[in-house]
Amino acid sequence: MRRAAVFLALLLCLLWTGAQGEDGAGTGKKEGEFDIQGVKAAHDQSSSQTQMSTDVWAELKEIRDMAIEHRIKIQRLEQDNTALEAKMSSSEKEVEELQRENTDLLARVTASENKSTALESRMSSSEKEVEELQRENADRPQVAFSAGLTDSGSVGPFTTDTTLKYSKVFTNIGQAYSPTTGIFTAPVRGAYYFRINAWEESGQTWTGVELFHNDQRKMRFNDYNDGGGYVSASNGILLQLEKGDVVYIVLIGNYSIYDDSNNRTIFSGFLLFPV
Ligand SMILES: *[C@@H]1O[C@H](CO)[C@@H](O)[C@H](O)[C@H]1NC(C)=O
Ligand SMILES: *[C@@H]1O[C@H](CO)[C@@H](O)[C@H](O)[C@H]1NC(C)=O
Ligand SMILES: *[C@@H]1O[C@H](CO)[C@@H](O)[C@H](O)[C@H]1NC(C)=O
Repeated sequence: MRRAAVFLALLLCLLWTGAQGEDGAGTGKKEGEFDIQGVKAAHDQSSSQTQMSTDVWAELKEIRDMAIEHRIKIQRLEQDNTALEAKMSSSEKEVEELQRENTDLLARVTASENKSTALESRMSSSEKEVEELQRENADRPQVAFSAGLTDSGSVGPFTTDTTLKYSKVFTNIGQAYSPTTGIFTAPVRGAYYFRINAWEESGQTWTGVELFHNDQRKMRFNDYNDGGGYVSASNGILLQLEKGDVVYIVLIGNYSIYDDSNNRTIFSGFLLFPV
């Protein structure tokens, strides 16, 4: 810009010099040209020259002022540019940071999704297991019973061992216990738990029972009511039974046993699990 201004100034000087020369030749034609530039030609030659010189200097000054103005503008633009560059570079940094964060988040999301998928598959396999267990459970026979002996006091003594008929049925899920015979029949092969007790409170007597698995005795317990008050004894046993095996309680010969509405003497059993 500055160079252009200097070049323009030189060009004007040359034009001016040329105009003077041509005027010297007496054509007077160039005066008209200066008219175009807004210079009012004077009739007096020297006055005209002075006028032209003044105009040229005025124009040069104007051009110089323009140049200065442009330089200021350029400086301002440069400053603006620097500011913009700074802003741009900080924006670029922000963009980079955001991109990094995005990548990070994406990785985390992917990891989460993976975890979700893994959890879903675990969940579905767990659900399958639960369903299977529920099916197994539903297929498993439910066997549990509990029965009291009688409401009518002493039973016995009898001269022989006698199978007791616990007639007061509290619970008989699966109907494996018969209150009419007093016999429990295993519906499936499995582990079964039984619990019995004996109570006696009539005089100085022996009480005691035996638990039979089929024709085999598995348990016997007894006690003597020597104080004339009451006596009691109890025991439990876990047995592995085959399907159709029987379990029952026998009152020992010459012994007695007692029960009333207090449900003092109870025979209970349940299937722990099939085997
Ligand atoms: C997510 O799972 C895919 C496919 O199983 C695997 O290629 C990728 O590496 C896993 N990504 C993460 C973050 O665990
Ligand atoms: C019961 O007692 C009688 C008379 O003492 C005896 O003969 C009988 O053998 C006893 N019964 C049992 C099962 O022990
Ligand atoms: C004994 O069992 C019967 C029948 O379930 C019940 O009505 C009664 O209250 C029980 N007796 C006692 C003392 O709990």
